[in-house]
Amino acid sequence: MELKNVKLPGDKSLSHRALILAALRTGTTELENISTGEDVKSTLNCLRSLGVQIENLDSKLIVKGVGLQGFKKPLAPLDCGNSGTTMRLFMGLLAGQNFETVLIGDKSLSLRPMKRVAEPLRQMGACIELTNGNYAPIRILPAQLGPLKYDLPMASSQVKSALMLAAIISNQNVVLGGELHSRDHTERMLPYFFDNSDKMLSWKVPGDISSGSFWIAAGLLRGVKVKLEDVLLNPTRLGFINVLRDSGVNIHLDLHSEEPEPRGDITVQPSAMMPFRLGKNQIPYLIDEIPLLVLLATQISGRSVITGAEELRYKESDRIVKTAEVFRQLGGYVETTSDGFLIEGKQSLNGGLIDTFQDHRLTMMAAVAGLVCENQVSFSETDSAKVSDPYFFNEWKEFL
Ligand code: S3P
Repeated sequence: MELKNVKLPGDKSLSHRALILAALRTGTTELENISTGEDVKSTLNCLRSLGVQIENLDSKLIVKGVGLQGFKKPLAPLDCGNSGTTMRLFMGLLAGQNFETVLIGDKSLSLRPMKRVAEPLRQMGACIELTNGNYAPIRILPAQLGPLKYDLPMASSQVKSALMLAAIISNQNVVLGGELHSRDHTERMLPYFFDNSDKMLSWKVPGDISSGSFWIAAGLLRGVKVKLEDVLLNPTRLGFINVLRDSGVNIHLDLHSEEPEPRGDITVQPSAMMPFRLGKNQIPYLIDEIPLLVLLATQISGRSVITGAEELRYKESDRIVKTAEVFRQLGGYVETTSDGFLIEGKQSLNGGLIDTFQDHRLTMMAAVAGLVCENQVSFSETDSAKVSDPYFFNEWKEFL
């Protein structure tokens, strides 16, 4: 049996950026396969509230660029929903405008740190008010931005991208150093979208490699070959694939094209895995796949160790605490440390009713864990999966 043609949404990180960069061009952009997940809808709605025209046409989105200075003052606060990428990138987009905006988010997003973006933007001259010094709601007052030289204290693509967007909107030099090794989509996409900014541009977003990882893990646990077609193969997103390879999994990548983002097919043969050790330098390239790696580690004989991953505490939930909690609910045990996990395999898992903590990646990980549980897994809710992958549970029914 082989699993292929799993319906994957367009990559979420690329979809946010494609919509934003298309809005900032002066020409029209035709985007195919934009993620239909809730997070990207938040970005789309925020852009519409800023006066950007985005239309649906034959499963494509047609974005009429307003140029770097073309946003209009929104009539109401911009709702970023559950999306950290939306909130942080829009902080960069809005810090240098001549009108005031307020950014709000759901309960989870309102608990995530925003000072990491506000601080360097303030050094550029931005006037940003955070709730309790670090959180949304965020009030951004009109300001003129100046240049910035800044060392990023944490490897975060969202912070890095917010500063790059602030730089291009305000036409100021921003020189970044420090922890730069995070996903590099904004760097790659900027020239692609802005060379010939006034011309018509068409782009199809490749499939989401992070959503694809759930199917790769499912194939490994089920002993089924998995082929994912036309997915993103950007090296800064291949950390999960590289760990699997180093642990003995037979994986073939077939690169189809490079510009502006590498894309192609991934084929994974069911293989035995060895335990693994992950450290700080690998974490940014697999940050969203760590719950899945913890699951796989519970099913490998031996001890796996994940360190340097304290950034997980600032995701949609505290993913160190909540991943361990999901395994406790499943009848397993993973030890947490301040910055990661110690995982002993091979564990037998029971299953049962799982509180997902409304964190999309934990919900889908628990579904995949169900493949190796003695009893069925049921969920406190499954809607959270729609944040990144609206197709997941439909496809899952067919897989089971
Ligand atoms: C993202 C960056 C990552 C990742 C998130 C999406 C992005 O966060 O966890 O899901 O699109 O820039 P960091 O800001 O920690 O890199």
